Amino acid sequence: MSNLLVESIRDEVRRRFEGHSADHDFNHIDRVFRMAMYLQSREGGNADMIACAALLHDISDHKLNGGKLNDGGRVAIALLIELGADESFAREVGDIVDQVSFKGAGVPDTEHSLELQIVRDADRLDAIGAIGVARAFHYGGRHDRPFYDPEIAPENHQSFEAYAKDKSHTINHFHEKLLLLKDRLHTQTAKKIGEERHRFLEQFVAEFYKEWSGSRGE
Ligand code: ADP
Ligand code: NI
Repeated sequence: MSNLLVESIRDEVRRRFEGHSADHDFNHIDRVFRMAMYLQSREGGNADMIACAALLHDISDHKLNGGKLNDGGRVAIALLIELGADESFAREVGDIVDQVSFKGAGVPDTEHSLELQIVRDADRLDAIGAIGVARAFHYGGRHDRPFYDPEIAPENHQSFEAYAKDKSHTINHFHEKLLLLKDRLHTQTAKKIGEERHRFLEQFVAEFYKEWSGSRGE
């Protein structure tokens, strides 16, 4: 496997993500790619597989492809083969791509190889911390969602379909996903990085409720 394949996947993904909004643009892909390569340097795993899966993990996201769930693996395999990858390597990357996504608070993560754990951890780390807050409110803004509505409680989604259909306010997304991610990281390296980012989310949500309630901090 050559880095030439990784380079051509990267170029193609950059081209396909042109014009995507900031919660899911090429900068997100690139942050996940760089974090995944860092995690690989500490944890091991097949570097080419991790690189390709990180670059392709959102290649056909249900939020951007008209609602098709679990379509990314198929698109990733086709692109890898078109760009010269072996079929067996392409299938392994495709399997990772289909399993990276968070599918709901009540839906357990599937069994995972180290390569899947690393790409999933890198994607989850980009959903928390300051960038996580920015991405969530950008997403909420794009979909015209209110910041918060105390009348609408968070849900514990038991299926990917129910999670994908959710149209709640943005603060609920913190309870339905973002604040749960710390305990759904797999590698030790990611757990360590996640601690500070999680604390920041907790602080943000606590401050949000405080200001919402009218507190002036006196
Ligand atoms: P995954 O990255 O595991 O596939 P999603 O596609 O559900 O997870 O979400 C990716 C990111 O998109 C979230 O981390 C968040 O930044 C944003 N997002 C998705 N759904 C919402 C939502 N309902 N409210 C706010 N942000 C959201
Ligand atoms: Ni992603």
